[in-house]
Amino acid sequence: MRLGILISGRGSNMEAIANSIAQKRLDAEIAIVISNRASAPGIITARERGFPVRIMPSAGLEREEYDKQLIDELMTHEVDLVCLAGFMRLLSANFVRAFPNRVMNVHPSLLPAFPGLDAQRQALEYGVKITGCTVHLVDEFLDSGPIVIQRAVPVLDADTVDSLSARILLQEHGIYSEAIQIMVEKRAVLEGRRVFIQELD
Ligand code: GAR
Repeated sequence: MRLGILISGRGSNMEAIANSIAQKRLDAEIAIVISNRASAPGIITARERGFPVRIMPSAGLEREEYDKQLIDELMTHEVDLVCLAGFMRLLSANFVRAFPNRVMNVHPSLLPAFPGLDAQRQALEYGVKITGCTVHLVDEFLDSGPIVIQRAVPVLDADTVDSLSARILLQEHGIYSEAIQIMVEKRAVLEGRRVFIQELD
């Protein structure tokens, strides 16, 4: 399975995916890494690891026009599955239609709680005792598509945004590769909003 990874920042989830592939826990290859921000540190990491990288700044472009360019670039690289890894941009319905049930995202909360920016800070400020992370299929709405895997992370009394984010990130790195491997093995069955994961024979 050929992956197109979209980033906007640090790129640690991209690296975790790359590590899973290198360790043969994930049977896929990274066909292209695309960043919508020229300053994203993940670009350097991706280049160091030898992945094809494209910087596609979104500033000043209409959503539909930008997404059309994204689709073209992903198609050119024959991408089977699009993985949003800290890609801080909403995708249009046209984009989602171009890759039906083949766009995934990781988010640092137990959705539908705390969508959007600063999910870890939102959880801390709300006072929840348990938060976590979610890998889901992407639709045209914010952090809203069918859920593939979630993992819970307890909130500790001593937690700061940084300490909580670090523990959640560790879990993100694990479940993202697991979820992608489930897609590789075609074990995800979608019924309405529910994703049923079939056991291996
Ligand atoms: C991750 O925590 C990811 O869950 C979050 O951005 C961070 C990116 O880190 N994504 C969202 O909040 C999407 N709504 P990374 O660049 O090191 O992978």
